Amino acid sequence: MDGFVDVLVIGGGAAGLFCAAEAGRRGRRVALLERSPGIGAKIAISGGGRCNFTNLHTRPESFLSENPDFCRSALARFTPLDFIERIERHGIAYHEKKLGQLFCDGSARQVIEMLRRECAPAGVRIEVGCEVGEITRRERFSVRTTAGVFTAGSLVLASGGLSIPKLGVSDLAYRVARQFGLRVVEPRPGLVPLTLVGDRYARLRELSGLSFPGAVRADDTEFRESVLFTHRGLSGPAILQISSYWRPGEPIRVDLLPDRPGGRALAAKRQSAMELATVLAEHVPKRLADAWCALEAPSRPMRQIGDREITAVAARLHDWRIEPSGTEGFVKAEVTAGGIDTAELSSKTMEAKRVPGLFAIGEAVDVTGHLGGFNFQWAWSSAHAAALAV
Ligand code: FDA
Repeated sequence: MDGFVDVLVIGGGAAGLFCAAEAGRRGRRVALLERSPGIGAKIAISGGGRCNFTNLHTRPESFLSENPDFCRSALARFTPLDFIERIERHGIAYHEKKLGQLFCDGSARQVIEMLRRECAPAGVRIEVGCEVGEITRRERFSVRTTAGVFTAGSLVLASGGLSIPKLGVSDLAYRVARQFGLRVVEPRPGLVPLTLVGDRYARLRELSGLSFPGAVRADDTEFRESVLFTHRGLSGPAILQISSYWRPGEPIRVDLLPDRPGGRALAAKRQSAMELATVLAEHVPKRLADAWCALEAPSRPMRQIGDREITAVAARLHDWRIEPSGTEGFVKAEVTAGGIDTAELSSKTMEAKRVPGLFAIGEAVDVTGHLGGFNFQWAWSSAHAAALAV
């Protein structure tokens, strides 16, 4: 078969499929190469099998990047409402779960099917089980693969990041970017549980399975959602969110009583014979109150605790410093933070400024969304931007 196309997309995930379909619709001859036996593996397992395909509250502030403004243009030109219009056009029923997060009522597979149906009339040639080898560039890109040699005027890197290795991920996007002289921001696990090691945190690991609504801070960023103790450390939405901002060696700071003045709660019981841990247990789960006191403030009757100490304990309740030893790594990370440096790309087209015809989209780029549908929205928006320019 002729491997001479206008656009060659590497990666059949959310970004690659959407870009291929949109470019094909513009009349471009498009081929898409996917290494795995099937397309859209991550879409299939996303959102617990229901795919949280966008978030109604998508804003540039919902993303991390060395250049926080980079995502603005693409997000403004292809918005959550634009994607919802596609979902509705394909008759996919959906609902808002919470906080603007939209999920399929049925199955994530409906989104894969939708993308496949958008690719077909656009004439996109999809090669699955296809390994990519050497890539060279003269007037056009030439790509050696197990499905033959492809030549294309535009090459789109859409092969994602490093999270969930068992899905057959690869560092191809970073390698190709570096081959063409583009800088890559060191990839690191994002949206990932944090680990707590050592005797100091044994009491917390024993709380495995317990959760509480908290506020967690790192690097001047705060998330208010559930915190979950695990047998390895910490997880739950608030921890996953903050993990993308956390840097090794730094503490995270947990507010056990967000929106509730801890000082007032303690002061109200100042003359009481009640133990500090018992007073705390009126506000947080009992086992957490006991563990917290064991770590931070030995429990004893309230009336034995002086005013200054009560003030200090209250402050610590709102600013509990925990020092994670690390993360559970790419094996458990929902996304890869870092990636191809946005300084190398046009924010309007996703094209490499110094390598005309080379594009990068989706998770391969140094733009990482918060938890809640933002990463797919970035995949759609960046894919759309590139599709208009390839
Ligand atoms: P993606 O990883 O989806 O696709 C890249 C494709 O390239 C893959 O198909 C891969 O096989 C292929 N590839 C890799 N190397 C290749 C090579 N050398 N040659 C050819 N092909 C190659 N986000 C969200 O917004 N809402 C959600 O509900 C979830 N849920 C979720 C759950 C879980 C368990 C995970 C791991 C992740 C999520 N995410 C999410 C994140 C979301 O899945 C992710 O951000 C997008 O899939 C990124 O889309 P991309 O197309 O950029 O990469």
